[in-house]
Amino acid sequence: MKIEGLAAIVTGGASGLGGATAAMLAELGAKVAVFDVNDEAGAAHAQAIGGLFAHVNVADEASVASGIAAAEAAHGTARILVNCAGVAPAIKTVGKENVAHPLDAFRRTVEINLIGSFNVISQFAARLAAADPLGEERGVIVNTASVAAFDGQIGQAAYAASKSGVVGMTLPVARDLAQHRIRVVTIAPGIFLTPMLMGLPQAAQDSLGTQVPHPSRLGKPEEYAQMVRTIIENPMLNGETIRLDGAIRMAPR
Ligand SMILES: NC(=O)c1ccc[n+]([C@@H]2O[C@H](COP(=O)([O-])OP(=O)(O)OC[C@H]3O[C@@H](n4cnc5c(N)ncnc54)[C@H](O)[C@@H]3O)[C@@H](O)[C@H]2O)c1
Repeated sequence: MKIEGLAAIVTGGASGLGGATAAMLAELGAKVAVFDVNDEAGAAHAQAIGGLFAHVNVADEASVASGIAAAEAAHGTARILVNCAGVAPAIKTVGKENVAHPLDAFRRTVEINLIGSFNVISQFAARLAAADPLGEERGVIVNTASVAAFDGQIGQAAYAASKSGVVGMTLPVARDLAQHRIRVVTIAPGIFLTPMLMGLPQAAQDSLGTQVPHPSRLGKPEEYAQMVRTIIENPMLNGETIRLDGAIRMAPR
């Protein structure tokens, strides 16, 4: 699809990969709605790119419904959805002093990363299904998994489970939505330099970067956004998860 003039929703769009994606879409002439729980950063970024901010918790049905309604009132029916909202806790299955992984933390991770992604997908697609097609397509959904879906590290049981769920639902959701002419593609990023990693000392960032075979550095959020652009623009990409990782395969720790 040609991005210019289309309405788009980016969850987790206040920061990091979602922030860069929202900026790329706005730059290419899309009307962008940023959905995030971080009000300050979300409103500032939306203003900077000429978009709209809505406080949305992706894990909450009513919150997503009201965000989609606000975005639609301002921009019309959204054709593009990019799911970037996510959390990444590091907790071992059995921790220090033989304490079991708190179940709440596991549940919250799955609720935001997996159920939250599906919650936005289903509500976005239900609205879009009622819109006229543009040529052979109605719209595109891009999800964000992680290489942890395939090579989860020590402490990533919840995170890897949530992200492999995103990978697992990609094909069946693409098949479900094919009749509505909506494509679904998932990106599994390797290690990208987002606020999460910017907090680490330079030496730690460099060390992570050297684990990437080629190019031997951390990914840039703009490179993630570039992948999103390719997915939106190439109508044959559908039902697939694409690793974007410089050939890294994560070690156990
Ligand atoms: N940075 C990496 O190296 C990397 C690698 C693989 C996958 N990912 C995935 O990419 C996505 C973006 O990560 P990032 O590195 O840009 O992190 P980030 O922390 O910069 O951005 C995540 C955003 O999601 C928002 N968010 C969290 N919970 C939310 C909720 N319930 N509802 C709405 N918004 C919520 C946060 O406020 C934040 O703005 C995540 O899903 C993450 O798991 C990141």
